[in-house]
Amino acid sequence: MPKMAVTTLKPGLKLAQSIYSQNDDFLLAKGVMLSKQDIQNIISLGITAVSIEQVLPTNEGLASEESKEQNLKFLTSNINAKSIVTDKTRLAATHQIENIMLNIKEAGKLIIKPEQLHSTISDLAGGIFSNKHLAFNLHGLHDKDNYTFTHSVNVCILAMMTGITLGYSYKDLIVLGTGALLHDIGKMQIPDKILNKPGKLTAAEFKIMKTHPYLGCQLLRQVDGLKSLPALIALEHHESYDGSGYPLGVHKKDFHEYAQIVGIADKFDALTANRVYKTAHAPHEAYEMFAAAGNYIFEPHVVKAFLHNISIYPLKTIVVLNTLEIGVVIDTPKGRPLHPKIRLFFDADHQRLPQAKELYLDPKDTVAILRVLEKDEIAELNF
Ligand SMILES: [Fe+2]
Repeated sequence: MPKMAVTTLKPGLKLAQSIYSQNDDFLLAKGVMLSKQDIQNIISLGITAVSIEQVLPTNEGLASEESKEQNLKFLTSNINAKSIVTDKTRLAATHQIENIMLNIKEAGKLIIKPEQLHSTISDLAGGIFSNKHLAFNLHGLHDKDNYTFTHSVNVCILAMMTGITLGYSYKDLIVLGTGALLHDIGKMQIPDKILNKPGKLTAAEFKIMKTHPYLGCQLLRQVDGLKSLPALIALEHHESYDGSGYPLGVHKKDFHEYAQIVGIADKFDALTANRVYKTAHAPHEAYEMFAAAGNYIFEPHVVKAFLHNISIYPLKTIVVLNTLEIGVVIDTPKGRPLHPKIRLFFDADHQRLPQAKELYLDPKDTVAILRVLEKDEIAELNF
């Protein structure tokens, strides 16, 4: 049963534990529906959090829209994504790539301190290693104002997660992570009017854009103390297994596995981000695209290793099951992209359940996610 901070308790919630006073006197029984006075009494005892049952609170007196919103908030409360890397590590990596890229753009200079870069990538790799069981949750990880830099860090994390699944050594991971973080630095030598154009690029503009892998490779080859592989990753990250990529149009296994990993991470993260010229695809839509076409663009074992690390239905996604019951995703274990844990709150007739019920979708079972509910459909539910 989830614990709630006493400051967030509302009348109508049901206790999932009995409450005793400081003298061990019995105060409130498990299962009791809390009143305003009960909440006051709990607070006065100095208790900070209590277990409550997943029963919808009564919202008498609230307008129906407000009541709906409160119920939805309640049903999706206590769902917290554990981060693979800490905010501090992510921020340090974002600042580092931002400085490197802006130096190229504004001062025309590539300034990379290999030891500093190594330490940043090591910190990211350390977080990934110690959270090996967690899937990558794309929910809320895109920063519109800071897209290029947050995208580079996402690609770096996703690439290293894929490398771990493929059994890479720590040393190999650091090289892969370095190339992943720096894969797009060639873009800093593309004119802004092309790089930031809100609409579709013309054929001539796209031709210029397609030079960024080559430009990035040229820049990285000049850096003393950096291995040659990051430069190769920058050069090949837009190549395709079927030969349709650029700048070289190489075929099949002619391009490096590291570049394939960075390529798939780059495409997946870009598909799920909101940009000036396009709205984001939900992760499950991106997954379907990759499942349908990914094997033509990348080697199948790379696609498989990448998708193993992704949470297709991020936490708090509202879904309909094939039983027509409706619920919210509350846990996304790694390696089970199609089978998260769900908290159900509407039955097959879309009637609110008196008490939410939780279940892990099982690959051996026939119960599965039918689809993700759209915002307007959620608004129509009879909370
Ligand atoms: Fe690129």
